[in-house]
Amino acid sequence: MKTFYITTAIDYVNGSPHLGHAYEKVLTDVIARFRRMMGDQVYFLTGVDEHGQKVQQSARKRGIEPQQFVDEVSQEFRALCTKLDISNDDFIRTTEERHKQVVRQVLQQLFDKGEIYKAEYKGFYSTRQEQFLQDKDRNPDGSWPELYGEVTEITETNYFFKLRSYQDWLIDFLKANESFVFPRYRQKQVLEFLSEPLNDLCISRPRERLEWGIPLPFDDGFVTYVWFDALLTYYSAVVDRPGLWPADFHVIGKDILVPPHAVYWPIMLKAAGIEPPKSLLAHGWWSINGAKMSKSTGNFVEPGEFVDTYGVDALRYFMIREMSVGQDSDFSLNQFLARYNGELANNLGNLVNRTLNMTNRFSAGIIPAAATDGAPEEALRALWTKTREEVIPLCEGFQFHIALERTFAFITATNAYIELRAPWKLGKSATPEDAALLKTSLATMAEALRLGAALLTAVMPSTVRKINGVLGHEAGAVWSDELAWGARLTGRTVAATAILFPKPTT
Ligand code: ME8
Ligand code: MG
Repeated sequence: MKTFYITTAIDYVNGSPHLGHAYEKVLTDVIARFRRMMGDQVYFLTGVDEHGQKVQQSARKRGIEPQQFVDEVSQEFRALCTKLDISNDDFIRTTEERHKQVVRQVLQQLFDKGEIYKAEYKGFYSTRQEQFLQDKDRNPDGSWPELYGEVTEITETNYFFKLRSYQDWLIDFLKANESFVFPRYRQKQVLEFLSEPLNDLCISRPRERLEWGIPLPFDDGFVTYVWFDALLTYYSAVVDRPGLWPADFHVIGKDILVPPHAVYWPIMLKAAGIEPPKSLLAHGWWSINGAKMSKSTGNFVEPGEFVDTYGVDALRYFMIREMSVGQDSDFSLNQFLARYNGELANNLGNLVNRTLNMTNRFSAGIIPAAATDGAPEEALRALWTKTREEVIPLCEGFQFHIALERTFAFITATNAYIELRAPWKLGKSATPEDAALLKTSLATMAEALRLGAALLTAVMPSTVRKINGVLGHEAGAVWSDELAWGARLTGRTVAATAILFPKPTT
């Protein structure tokens, strides 16, 4: 069995989880579930980034110790994973001993190899980004971009990692691995960044400025720079699990591709004699109502509350349907409700209701065997074959939004098939031809619903479980077998009703 190791970024716990965090987890979960369904042995890691200045500051603001602070906030992130039905195998925190041990060991190894040296540094520093800045980071007018927050000039002695001596290696690596970054055009951004000489990376912070970090194993007057610490979770989490490293995908947002994931990380690993990950997937960012999301201005969606109101699968569906992986998207309640009502309630939900109602009314709740076959059935089966053949490669290429569109087109076609056959008329007829057609139409709609739902499994796992449940069907272990048009529902008893997408009360 092929192993497939996939990670999300690990979230900063200086604030509560937001829609961006929720999206990244759901996207990664959809990929993980899809790969499992395709037969891979998947290992899915997520977690939290608990060290660094931002967290130390947030804890101070609350007047509590950083450890107590991170214990509390990490719990919110863990709870969000449960709430979003995330199928992660592990959840790592950077304050865990299993992780700190690996960080110390890698640092010591690099120090012993001469890859880390001590030097004095004078320059500008952004606390918000926990990053030293150069003149090239300034706006054309000389000011600092807003993203850096308050920028201060500092002089201090620190430890540096020899990033620059690996620049040529990284350029060659990227040229030899053209699909290292998805989407491809983002790989160009990385190469552009590498067209300028790299500076060595400052990997320490003096204790007097930052207490909350992993002390350097060779000098406890300093703690480890938060990015050097955080990136290593991907490795520390699986160091005792042979066969998983290198990771197949790190799923991250576009803001942390260059330089942390595409430059620091492969070079850190190369210097430590560890294989680089196979690929990075950089997704876009959500805005809300056309503006940057922000708690202070109230332009914020609390993902947990949203799930309480609309259901987990409605949020999962919306995010995956709306965003083309790699590009930015906007979140608005109007657009959400348009999809909720139009696609989930009135299309999929309607198909479920009709199937149950008519099977109960005309067949005593038992799905009959198809008795005849005609052009409408043939057409729907042909559309199914086409849909199935398109959807799998689309998912393999992370084009989930198109995969969902195709799947819903099949659901729409199934509803249209029902209109065409009009079982409610057939049920009133006394001819044997119509009785046969009635059976065929009931069998066909149920089978088409089962198949359409099977294609939604990775995105809406609990909804699909419910649909199978009301059809009296238990999905088998092998997903590809589920995708074959057949007669496996014959004789099954359907439920009386199912409300999958209730009318929202707000
Ligand atoms: O960057 N839309 O943590 P973080 C989509 N700890 N995704 C978004 C988003 C938005 N509006 N806002 C944030 C960190 N994200 C580091 C990562 S990994 C070794 C360390 C994404 O909490 C963001 O792009 O600021 C990132 O991938 C993830 O949320 C965590 O962001
Ligand atoms: Mg961030």
